[in-house]
Amino acid sequence: MTENISSSFGKRKYTGRILSGPYSAELKKNLLSSIAHFKALEGVGSPIIPYIAAWLPEGGHIWYEYAGAKLQELLGFNSTGVAGALRDNIITRCLYRVQDQPPTIDKIILDKAQIERLRDAMRSMAERGGGVDAVYKFDANGRPLWLKDLARIEMHDRDRIVLSYGTLIDVTKEMQLEETLVEVQSELKFHKENLESLVEERSRELKKAHLDVLARLTQATAFRDGGTGSHIKRLSQYCAVLGSSYGLSKNANNVLFHAVPMHDVGKLGIADSILQKPGPLSLEEFDIIKTHCQVGSDLLSEGQSTLLQVAQSIALNHHEKWDGSGYPQGLANRQIPLASRITSICDVFDALTSERPYKKAWHFDDAVEEVGRMRETYFDPNLVDLFMKEVPQMRTIYQRVPLGQ
Ligand SMILES: [Fe+2]
Ligand SMILES: [Fe+2]
Repeated sequence: MTENISSSFGKRKYTGRILSGPYSAELKKNLLSSIAHFKALEGVGSPIIPYIAAWLPEGGHIWYEYAGAKLQELLGFNSTGVAGALRDNIITRCLYRVQDQPPTIDKIILDKAQIERLRDAMRSMAERGGGVDAVYKFDANGRPLWLKDLARIEMHDRDRIVLSYGTLIDVTKEMQLEETLVEVQSELKFHKENLESLVEERSRELKKAHLDVLARLTQATAFRDGGTGSHIKRLSQYCAVLGSSYGLSKNANNVLFHAVPMHDVGKLGIADSILQKPGPLSLEEFDIIKTHCQVGSDLLSEGQSTLLQVAQSIALNHHEKWDGSGYPQGLANRQIPLASRITSICDVFDALTSERPYKKAWHFDDAVEEVGRMRETYFDPNLVDLFMKEVPQMRTIYQRVPLGQ
């Protein structure tokens, strides 16, 4: 047996326990033949590092019956200390578990402390499963060393011993590449998130600037019209209430809210002498006033945003009437775009409750009644019905926003 051992190990010393211990001849024979196979494997310069580890089923430290010469070379220790050195130098252990649902690879990483704690549990799992398939990270004299371990576990009940026939492959390059990839991916993710929030911020700023410019435009119109802007403030809010009562989406209602104030931008093109005339207008003067719809529409035309497109349509159509007697095109019923039908009710209602150079402000309830009277002539009957339902909300707006143009 001693001869066999020395011929199997060559110059290296046998440091295991089985071949010189009280174990069956069959076990010793099998072990020797495995060592001879592993030696041959090493002899042909295979990159695989074979080993045979052993432990007692009741527990205790693992020891090595055989460990490939390359392992000692990589970790820098002699075979006597293989088990201890592997234990001491281990950093992490990864287990790649293939998941069926969905088909992915689940990476279980254990650090040194967890490995210490779970050592017995991992060993009995390997015994039950009949093998080990894991990747270990070692500290090899300050350098990281990754070894992939593929082992078959054999239980020898008669000899009360467990043997693990394993092969290690140096996968340091591959694992470093994977670590770099993970780093690059997390960096990329970080940049992407940063970029996304930057874009979001920029588009919020742009939207704000856009609305700001439009608000100034409508403010300018209100000033030309002799007002302070409170008419358009109330009007937007009335329209939003009616829009949401009609069932417009939050988004669409928001567009309506911001587009409505531009309904009279065309008045920028009407002479002061007509616009601010205190008395009644002549027919010719009224014809000039009527052009503010087309002028406004021209001013807002070719806008790229939905907001400008809706604003343009409202500017053009807000004086159309349900029965077709309005201007500038004489559209009737549903030919008049919805946003304009909503605007026209609220615009007239607010004009009634406001004081103008040529008239006193109507009482809130009288103005509501007047809107009801114009159901089906001036206004969309369905919208008038909704308006009546929303009178309490309209009253709140009327009371909250100071009167005046
Ligand atoms: Fe108008
Ligand atoms: Fe108006």
